[in-house]
Amino acid sequence: MEKDAFTDERDRVLTRKDSDKKWAWVLTGSGHFFNETIDLINKLNFVDLFVSKAAEEVLVMYKKKGKISSEIKIYQDNSSSSASVGKFYKGAYHTLVMAPTSSNTVAKCVYGISDSLATNIFAQSGKCRVDCIFFPCDTAPELKTFAPSGYVDVYPRKIDLENVEKLKKFSQTTVVLSFKELEKEIEMRGECLKKSYF
Ligand SMILES: Cc1cc2nc3c(=O)[nH]c(=O)nc-3n(C[C@H](O)[C@H](O)[C@H](O)COP(=O)(O)O)c2cc1C
Repeated sequence: MEKDAFTDERDRVLTRKDSDKKWAWVLTGSGHFFNETIDLINKLNFVDLFVSKAAEEVLVMYKKKGKISSEIKIYQDNSSSSASVGKFYKGAYHTLVMAPTSSNTVAKCVYGISDSLATNIFAQSGKCRVDCIFFPCDTAPELKTFAPSGYVDVYPRKIDLENVEKLKKFSQTTVVLSFKELEKEIEMRGECLKKSYF
């Protein structure tokens, strides 16, 4: 029996090997380990980058605008429906990385809000059962972070820390609490997918 176009596309998605898929990386307006994160993204092969409106401004402030590898496709938050999330439904990604993630985006993700590119990707990726590595900025009651002007002390509020705890309960979501842990998770995931990491 001949397959119709829909069945054909569905079979293609279902049989697409993880090694044919890409990383989806969401950058938000958090400056926590921002420079290190950009360096890490640039080392990865096969990655699409989704940038929140705030992240675009933060990229300029940390002098990283134009410093993303030309091999990386960048998606900006310029449509209300976040049309680019459709790629998740086509099985284009093996892993979603949300890093570093602002308190704002963490809070929205935890409460199921999807009204921006970053939050839409987290929601739609979850509905497509794509594994997620999530690095929230509020990892401890006291931390030092590198602002464009130098290091500053930050004291995440109770609600920020509670939201991170709630995030840990999401299925297929690995929450990492340091940049080192983020690097390790990415490396392990890369090895497990047999994709070259650097
Ligand atoms: C230089 C700079 C660094 C920032 N770093 C953080 C941060 O580490 N964590 C955070 O929650 N917000 C941070 N913000 C504020 C966020 O950018 C702001 O809350 C923004 O609305 C988040 O939007 P998004 O979650 O859609 O990316 C920073 C802002 C600036 C200008």
